Amino acid sequence: MSNAVGSLDALKATDPDVYAAILAEEERQRDRLLLIASENFASPAVLAAQGSIMTNKYAEGYPGKRYYGGCQHVDTVEDLAIQRCKQIFGAEHVNVQPHSGSQANMAAYLSVLKPGDTILGMDLAQGGHLTHGSKVNFSGILFRVFSYGVERETETINYDAVQKIAEECKPRLLVVGASAYARTFDFPRFQQIAKSVGAYLLVDIAHIAGLIAAGLHPNPVPYADFVTTTTHKTLRGPRGGVVMCKEEYAKGVDKLLFPGIQGGPLMHVIAAKAVAFKEALSPAFTRYQQQVIANAKVLAQGLIDRGYKIVSGGTDTHLMLLNLTNKGITGKEADAALGEAGIIVNKNAVPYDEKPPAVASGIRLGTPVVSTRGMREADMKEIVGLVDRALQNRQDPAVLDEIRAQAKALCGRFPIFHPY
Ligand SMILES: Cc1ncc(COP(=O)(O)O)c(C=O)c1O
Repeated sequence: MSNAVGSLDALKATDPDVYAAILAEEERQRDRLLLIASENFASPAVLAAQGSIMTNKYAEGYPGKRYYGGCQHVDTVEDLAIQRCKQIFGAEHVNVQPHSGSQANMAAYLSVLKPGDTILGMDLAQGGHLTHGSKVNFSGILFRVFSYGVERETETINYDAVQKIAEECKPRLLVVGASAYARTFDFPRFQQIAKSVGAYLLVDIAHIAGLIAAGLHPNPVPYADFVTTTTHKTLRGPRGGVVMCKEEYAKGVDKLLFPGIQGGPLMHVIAAKAVAFKEALSPAFTRYQQQVIANAKVLAQGLIDRGYKIVSGGTDTHLMLLNLTNKGITGKEADAALGEAGIIVNKNAVPYDEKPPAVASGIRLGTPVVSTRGMREADMKEIVGLVDRALQNRQDPAVLDEIRAQAKALCGRFPIFHPY
């Protein structure tokens, strides 16, 4: 064994406190039912690359054009990451250096916008992301923001309404994508809207990148000027971001990312991105994503059958939003009770929510992690039963303890990383 990857024994000897916290976190990930839609378990190969000595290297610049010597091997991994990402999504230009999804968005926005320009994005309260124009985010601080949401009746995007808002506010950039929207996006329609008002189109596929990579959701790359993503959600890589764009924006994006908003790239993370992209090109990854969607559909239907309301009536993707108003439970209460029962979710606002975000009327559920572990439809039915029982008995600690043991037993039947 070389010294190229970290050793837990060395960590234990040097820092028992951090070692103990990592072990406790490992146990938490192993023994709880993790249904947070934005999380996943990276593969052992991805973890090995991310935990490697690539972290030691400074490599400001881009492959072949660095400001430091000794970059030949980090150039190899960055070139591989770029080439594989292009192969997955068919993008003309790829920058794999963003430290996060937020930085990917910032780089893309600032490559063509100036502070004070108008952007139009999906409302955070209706499924969008902070970086799509929230007041508390750089996007809302730097730009004049207008928002679109979902229709009250169908709880889906009404494209005619988006067109109307775009005509009224005349954005320079139309941002598409979401953190809590369970339906397929119509990218050609968004392209038409953007074109009709002379706006750039940016699609943020952070949540659905894995589904797109597997051909299970339409790919926005042919329609958008910019496509951004995180690499750690359905795509199942290390934490990080990517910007893809048409060739004409390549120089602008690269310059904005470095030296504009970042310094040295995280080469260990870029190595892990390359590994994750290789995995995403495999038939096993497609089988995995098929299971993610199949599991989400069974989970949603099982909850509907027990009288729960799923926003928009179901899901096309890996996630769903549960509106708990009809059950008289707040998102905050549900999140806490399920947590006690060993089922980890996040509270989430539902469209037209009357409660403040810290309370919220719903929870968001997703199947990426449980599917990575190899759980299938029958297991989703078992999870429906556990979720329902925990919510019904949310004030009964003894029942929640019992469910936590059942959740742990269910997890115990599966490895952390199932080979598809
Ligand atoms: C749609 C969307 N875009 C961007 C991001 C930001 O990613 P990060 O947390 O890596 O900054 C997220 C993360 O939740 C997201 O859901």
